[in-house]
Amino acid sequence: PSTDRGTVEQFLRAVPDFPEPGIRFWDLTPVLADAEGLAATTRLLSEPVADAAVDVVVGIEARGFLLGAAVAQALGLGIVPVRKQGKLPAVAASRSYDLEYGSATLELPAGVLAAGTRALLVDDVLATGGTAAAASELVESCGAHVAALSVVLELPALSGRARLGDRPLHAVLER
Ligand code: PRP
Ligand code: MG
Repeated sequence: PSTDRGTVEQFLRAVPDFPEPGIRFWDLTPVLADAEGLAATTRLLSEPVADAAVDVVVGIEARGFLLGAAVAQALGLGIVPVRKQGKLPAVAASRSYDLEYGSATLELPAGVLAAGTRALLVDDVLATGGTAAAASELVESCGAHVAALSVVLELPALSGRARLGDRPLHAVLER
C-alpha cells in the first residue's frame, strides 16, 4: 500500500489559479492516465471498505464517475451516478450546495437506490465537503445509508470532514 500511495503522489499535479485566481486545483488526470496510477488508486480507494457491508458504489460527477466505476469493479458492485442538475432523465431528489468557488445542484437518479441499501460514495477530492455532504443527503433521502465515503485527496485546511458528521471518510492523501 505504501508503494501504491507513492505511485499516486508521483503523478498528482497541482495547477495554480484554476478555476479562479488564488485557487490551487489538485488534478488527478495524470494519475488516471497511467495504468499503474489507476490500479494503485483503485486499490487504495477500495481496500478500506473491503470488510464493510457495501451494496453499491455512488460516483459523484465528474471524476467520481471514473474512480467510482473502477472501485465498483474491484469490489464486485454496480455504480449509481450522482449528477449535476439537468443531466438525468429521471430524478429521485436534488440538493443545492456551495462550492469553494460558486454553487451547484446535484441530482440522484430515480428508481436505482432502494431503501436500506448501503452505499460507498466515491469522489476525487474532499475540499469544503459541500459536494460530499450534498451527495450523502441525496442517498439518505431515499432511505439508503452512506456506509462510507472514499476520496483520493482530502484538503484538511477546508474542514470538509466536519460537514460529513458521523459518516466514515477514507482519504488516500492529504494536502
Ligand atoms: C470538485 C471535486 C469535488 C469537489 C470538492 O468538483 O472534483 O467533487 O469539487 O469540493 P467541495 O468539497 O468543496 O465540495 P467540481 O465541482 O469542480 O466538479 P467536477 O468534478 O464535475 O469537475
Ligand atoms: Mg467533482
